[in-house]
Amino acid sequence: MKTLVDGVQPTRTSSAERGSHRSQEAESSVQNTAEVLRIRGGRPLRGRVEVKGAKNLATKAMVAALLGETTSVLRDVPDISDVRVVRSLLDAHGVRVDNGAEEGELHLDPSGAVSAHIEEIDAHAGASRIPILFCGPLLHLLGEAFIPDLGGCRIGDRPIDFHLDALRNFGAIVEKLPGGIRLSAPAGLRGADIRLPYPSVGATEQVLLTAVRARGATELRNAAIEPEIMDLIAVLQKMGAIISYEPNRVILIEGVDTLRGYDHRAIFDRNEAASWAAAALATDGEIFVGGAKQQEMLTFLNVVRKVGGDFDVREDGILFRRGGDLRAVTVETDVHPGFMTDWQQPLIVALTQAHGESVVHETVYENRLGFTAALNKMGADIVVHPNGLSGGVRRVPRRELEQAAVIHGPTPLHAADVVVPDLRGGYSYVIAALAAEGESIVRNVGIIRRGYEKLFTKLDTLGADFDVVG
Ligand code: EPZ
Repeated sequence: MKTLVDGVQPTRTSSAERGSHRSQEAESSVQNTAEVLRIRGGRPLRGRVEVKGAKNLATKAMVAALLGETTSVLRDVPDISDVRVVRSLLDAHGVRVDNGAEEGELHLDPSGAVSAHIEEIDAHAGASRIPILFCGPLLHLLGEAFIPDLGGCRIGDRPIDFHLDALRNFGAIVEKLPGGIRLSAPAGLRGADIRLPYPSVGATEQVLLTAVRARGATELRNAAIEPEIMDLIAVLQKMGAIISYEPNRVILIEGVDTLRGYDHRAIFDRNEAASWAAAALATDGEIFVGGAKQQEMLTFLNVVRKVGGDFDVREDGILFRRGGDLRAVTVETDVHPGFMTDWQQPLIVALTQAHGESVVHETVYENRLGFTAALNKMGADIVVHPNGLSGGVRRVPRRELEQAAVIHGPTPLHAADVVVPDLRGGYSYVIAALAAEGESIVRNVGIIRRGYEKLFTKLDTLGADFDVVG
């Protein structure tokens, strides 16, 4: 029997009491991460899911709306808690955010923007890293900003030194306070010459959102060039920004005095698309991911082919399935156009079913393989090397912080009781439970819904046998 969460459940009721409705899953407005799934595995996932706009673009484009003099329209915004966090932060700063006529359409009117009260920001900030990107826009708008300490997935220290160094370079005064940082720019912000120590996505976005209205030109070197970054550049250009980029990770921005609102449809979510592809491989199913595009997923598709998966690229999406027995591969995560770090966690579940010894070198974060302990509890054979592996042919330069996972397969997975550690690791537990024999319990599922819209409805559509309990 399947029970979908039908609207916001103010009290915890057992699945039996709720009865089984098939209804559009309504994300609860409160971040109730304590949700629990009971999953009966052993069945392949089959069917079609649609991915909407990318979590890691939509949230940034919403912040960019603060820079415009007029209302912006953002389309294909996913209904996830990370978006709701940004929406409430914008609201706290007097930005009016209304739903448009289309599903996923937001209208953002910055004309009433004011400095927020610290306690209001604090109330919203803990669940995401996005608040740090408010710095530049708020400094341009109000001459000051208070940014609370950041949340986000526990996949490493996740420092913000690149961000703060860049902001100082623009002329901001940065003051560390208990609970956050206060910034001010009494003399305004001026263009800067910045070289990032690492092509950080967030730090690149920080520079873009600050430089577009700074006085003079900014040159950013060693920039991130992920498709979501290029889409943010498209958003800013629509607003009137002057931005160009060169093939060697150099981005040039000429500051302008004013920007106007944009109308933009967010790029599709590559991370969600790759997640459902991994689910098809792990459960030996067949999933059509509507909205997925080949260009932005080239490296991922190569790995799907090498691991023995199969895919068909169509006009409106990509079909993923196994092409036969899965076989071991070696993968190194890297910045774009490499294999995204966000793709490795769901892929590792599929690698537990691959014949042979797979290796995943995680070179972006220093602690993104801890989730594999729970997979071992389910019967996987994964060894994590906390200081990485030396030797072997490498394409990605070794980093001090890197780790590696060695996966021996195939190993039949069996049910277990597991607790979601982070967004992508949590999604991996759900597909592992679906690939396992028996009935698993997955706790703190709300964390997964930070980044996966209508998760329960999509699982239900694909034939997953589960209940939302507790
Ligand atoms: C973004 O995080 C994404 N999050 C992450 O996706 C993604 O994994 C990551 O980019 C890499 O692609 C959002 O966009 C909200 P980084 P971000 O700055 O910007 C170090 C998901 O699953 N670093 O590129 O925080 C950092 O510690 C999430 O959707 C510094 O040392 O990532 C890491 O080792 C998880 N100092 C590396 O750079 C800094 O000031 C890459 O981080 C900033 C970063």
